[in-house]
Amino acid sequence: MIRNTPRLRGLIQSSLSKVGARCLTAQAATALRESEPMFRYEEYADIDWNNLGFGLTRTDYMYTAKCKENESFQQGQLRDYGNVELSPAAGVLNYGQGLFEGTKAYRGENGRVFLFRPDQNAIRMQMGAERMCMRSPSVQQFVDAVKQTAFANKRWIPPPGKGSLYIRPLLIGTGPILGLSPSPEYTFLVYASPVGNYFKEGTAPLNLYVNDEFHRATRGGAGGVKSITNYAPVLQAISKAKAQGFSDVIYLDSVHKKYVEEASSCNMFLVKGNVISTPATVGTILEGITRKSIIDIARDSGYKVEERLVTVDELMEADEVFTTGTAVSIAAVGSITYNGQRKEYKTGDGLVSKDLYKTLVGIQLGKIEDKHNWVVQLD
Ligand SMILES: Cc1ncc(COP(=O)(O)O)c(C=O)c1O
Repeated sequence: MIRNTPRLRGLIQSSLSKVGARCLTAQAATALRESEPMFRYEEYADIDWNNLGFGLTRTDYMYTAKCKENESFQQGQLRDYGNVELSPAAGVLNYGQGLFEGTKAYRGENGRVFLFRPDQNAIRMQMGAERMCMRSPSVQQFVDAVKQTAFANKRWIPPPGKGSLYIRPLLIGTGPILGLSPSPEYTFLVYASPVGNYFKEGTAPLNLYVNDEFHRATRGGAGGVKSITNYAPVLQAISKAKAQGFSDVIYLDSVHKKYVEEASSCNMFLVKGNVISTPATVGTILEGITRKSIIDIARDSGYKVEERLVTVDELMEADEVFTTGTAVSIAAVGSITYNGQRKEYKTGDGLVSKDLYKTLVGIQLGKIEDKHNWVVQLD
């Protein structure tokens, strides 16, 4: 799949035959990364960039690294994108020992490519790994793996304005284990897919449904980390809501059934008067990287922001509601349905969420000064 010069192709091919499989040696991987200025390869993959949704598109390469019991992660390698082989007794298959992350590479003007706060994903993976008794890669290895994966799949990074390359780092227990205990081996894997809008509504306001029957997490559980085990349990609530025409579900706390937690894959914000509020992170909701960036951006822009317990009644009385996440960016909410009542929110121009969105995207695309040093340019 590599479309560049014979010299680079030769190096990569001899590397592949040396290791007898589909892995690139470190030398070839470095050559691939460093080849860009000297050897131009196809700038864009041949796909319909105007109709990207949030589906999986197969890209060229993925990154893998392994860690044996009581050891650190070995140096990882780029290899062709493809299936992975697992023992039927792998910890991830039997006991759900798995974490995932989501970050994006954006193509700015003049072909520059940017990552947004990948170190924060690395730190969150480390915290999750501690909670799930897993070993984790260092922040440096994580960020380097994300950079390598983005660079190797550069032709899949959508043109400016068409979307982004969604990068999915995974940490999974791949060692075989029969009794309930931590896996003897872990695999860190990073793959990527070009994506457009997360919701089928595109950039139109979302219609959300408050579900007080299903709960995403409980105090003392693992709702605050990005464990794979948090996601299958919400599929039923999402499917039911989608079947009724809603975009997503808002979950409430499992004890009082009145405090807002978050949506299935994004954090919640409300605006009332000139104050922005968002549920505090108390271990049951994911501490989103977009959430904390938006809190900083809003405060920098002069808004008052409160992180606190937010009741569902307050949400229903808010002037404006929006959600944040890497996949959704910032999405305005058009309506929320709770207990048979549908509340409509103002949409269109003049929204606080639009103002914050412009600043966030401006920073992510290198157009607005990045005073917090959040952006990593890929070169
Ligand atoms: C449950 C949940 N909440 C919130 C978020 C938003 O987090 P971030 O802004 O880091 O993408 C995500 C996505 O990662 C998520 O899965």
